[in-house]
Amino acid sequence: MTSSRRAFLTSISMLAAHSVFPVGGFRFGKAEKLKIALVGTGIRGTTFWGKRLFDTYSDILEFVGLHDHNPGRLAYAQSYIGTDCPLFDHFETMIREARPELLIVTTKDSTHHQFIIKALEMGCDVLTEKPLTTDAAKCQAILAAERNSGNNLIVGFNYRWSPYNTKIKELLSSGIIGKITSVDFHWYLNTYHGASYFRRWHGQIKNSGSLLVHKATHHFDLLNWWIDSEPAEVFAYGDLEFYGQNGPYRGSNCRDCAHTAICDFYWDITKDDFLTNLYVENEHHDGYIRDNCLFRDEIDIYDKMSAQVRYQNNVQLSYSLTTYSPYEGWRASFNGTEGRLEAWTDIPYYQDVKVSESEKHALELSQDKEDFIRSEPIIVHHLWKDFEIVKVPRERVGHGGGDGRLQDKLFLDPSAPDPYGHMAGSRDGAMSILIGIAARESIQTRKAVQIAAMTDLQPRAQRH
Ligand SMILES: NC(=O)c1ccc[n+]([C@@H]2O[C@H](COP(=O)([O-])OP(=O)(O)OC[C@H]3O[C@@H](n4cnc5c(N)ncnc54)[C@H](O)[C@@H]3O)[C@@H](O)[C@H]2O)c1
Repeated sequence: MTSSRRAFLTSISMLAAHSVFPVGGFRFGKAEKLKIALVGTGIRGTTFWGKRLFDTYSDILEFVGLHDHNPGRLAYAQSYIGTDCPLFDHFETMIREARPELLIVTTKDSTHHQFIIKALEMGCDVLTEKPLTTDAAKCQAILAAERNSGNNLIVGFNYRWSPYNTKIKELLSSGIIGKITSVDFHWYLNTYHGASYFRRWHGQIKNSGSLLVHKATHHFDLLNWWIDSEPAEVFAYGDLEFYGQNGPYRGSNCRDCAHTAICDFYWDITKDDFLTNLYVENEHHDGYIRDNCLFRDEIDIYDKMSAQVRYQNNVQLSYSLTTYSPYEGWRASFNGTEGRLEAWTDIPYYQDVKVSESEKHALELSQDKEDFIRSEPIIVHHLWKDFEIVKVPRERVGHGGGDGRLQDKLFLDPSAPDPYGHMAGSRDGAMSILIGIAARESIQTRKAVQIAAMTDLQPRAQRH
């Protein structure tokens, strides 16, 4: 193995272990590109981890295999990404024959563990999309596989990387409001983005673990990172009273439903060529309908939810998520012994630049050039003093600019210092989903749930 190749592999392992110390150079020659395989060629796998990687980093990495259980979507993904790498209809065959060094997992949430565990056991490092997995037993199995294999697992927490979220971390770490004592955090999904989760597999707990896991893993990860502690106890409420059986009527496919003229949620997927090629053209292979009715009976996830979390360092968190808000955005307030920090994004009446609610989700997922930049404030209010406004440039595309920065760190510059600890490994992945899984359990049992009882991870007062 050449020294630059070894430097890369060491870097990946250091990243997974949250090291802040740079290790060696990261220089790829033509003969030593990183070998990558990807499982799950849906929208996230094809666009962000497929085409964007291929277009941006082909001089340092190469795709050696793609796998999806839908052969039509797999073939379309290959042409969309632009790679001529082999396609595999069997996962283990891909790992055995293509011999990737890094596997990227972008399948349905409830299946992540199968691929993570198998690939770790077969000698690969693994980068998985969030959420790490959907229940505590699978989480424990993943943690054990990582330990036993000696290989590394990275969780792609892109939200940490946006400049706005990084600034909050920087301010809190500097002690600007003293010791944090409590946090309010509220996330509002609008009737475009929020509804989209109810149109497909996310609408069932057995697939997504509910939005307390699928979506809130992002939020709980940010909170764990900002608070710099691990969750100890969770109590939650949740209910389904807007989507699912609550709708006034229901159909099968949204595109040709009998209620298109009167339903506010009518969406014609066939107007979008990319989504048509990716999903509609391949329905006959596996019956995966991307534009299902969001009022169908099988939906069992909550559409409103709230949780109280006590951290191991005694911080108290009040969290809520709603899925049918007129606008998409969030608010957070941190109370400390020396003041208060307030942050928010996308609250329409606080903004100079208006973005239509229907466009917001498309911009968030977009991997186009980052040309949509404006600034948003963070308020720091010291006890007994006036408040100050910290203005932070904010990008709309690619999850607030987090997507591109995450990939640059991983592939372009893994040895660069990471002073705020942006990189996330399996422990961070676990701690964020365990809050959501505990919240689910609390809703069902009406009791507080202890994180320490869920896996062999014992919550730490300080994360690292
Ligand atoms: N970090 C983020 O901001 C972000 C954004 C979007 C999606 N994601 C994550 O990416 C993942 C994929 O999401 P998506 O929106 O692309 O979903 P998707 O449904 O479009 O894609 C999932 C793909 O996995 C395939 N698949 C499912 N089960 C499989 C199995 N057992 N074997 C082989 N292939 C299988 C499906 O055929 C499909 O092509 C999810 O885990 C999601 O949480 C993360």
